[in-house]
Amino acid sequence: MIAHTHEKASKGNLVRWSKRYDAIFGHLLRGSEGRVIELAEIKAGDTVLDLGCGPGNLTLNAKANVGKTGKVFGIDAAPEMIELANKKAAEKGVEVGFQVAYAQELPFADATFDVVISRLVFHHLPGDLKLQALNEIQRVLKPGGKCLVVDFDMPSLPVVGGLFKHVLSNHTMPQTDVRNYAVLMKQTGYQEVECDSTGRLLLAYVKGKK
Ligand SMILES: C[S@@+](CC[C@H](N)C(=O)[O-])C[C@H]1O[C@@H](n2cnc3c(N)ncnc32)[C@H](O)[C@@H]1O
Repeated sequence: MIAHTHEKASKGNLVRWSKRYDAIFGHLLRGSEGRVIELAEIKAGDTVLDLGCGPGNLTLNAKANVGKTGKVFGIDAAPEMIELANKKAAEKGVEVGFQVAYAQELPFADATFDVVISRLVFHHLPGDLKLQALNEIQRVLKPGGKCLVVDFDMPSLPVVGGLFKHVLSNHTMPQTDVRNYAVLMKQTGYQEVECDSTGRLLLAYVKGKK
């Protein structure tokens, strides 16, 4: 189920069908996780936030990379996603701080994180919410901290991209082009902004430093 129209406009497109999402996309996206961790330069001891963590698969992968001395948190606006993510963490016996929260209203103090990662979330945030989320990420990053946003790489795949845009527009989701996020990141004051394909099917990234 996709969120109601009013909720979409003001809060983002929530994904409440967590188990079905995980059954379909959990497997498909597994191959990109190592690459996301590598691009974000996550290392032992880091404090990391996965923004829009969904069922928490990437979040748990990040936890494996920060080790015992690091801390990992995941937020998602859909309670169903956080419930599933907490269940997975409990099954693995790992400690990850999952909580229900909006990307544009993060429940963390200023300068908390070394790295913020976000995969396939920004195309769920209409209009101003992308800017608000980028501002919030910047607020919670430590000075020099990194933000990595991964999303569909449609322009590089004209035929598949055209099809995706058609599907997304039918679901009233905004159009996606990760390269436009680079403009927004520069506008919000991020430094050393770069953008490229992840080298994994359909996914591109933009990253910058506070
Ligand atoms: C396509 S899923 C991606 C989940 C996960 N990052 C992954 O890679 O599998 C997008 C997620 O963004 C969440 N979301 C949408 N709008 C949001 C918002 N405003 N704040 C936080 N999460 C949001 C949805 O509920 C959904 O779980």
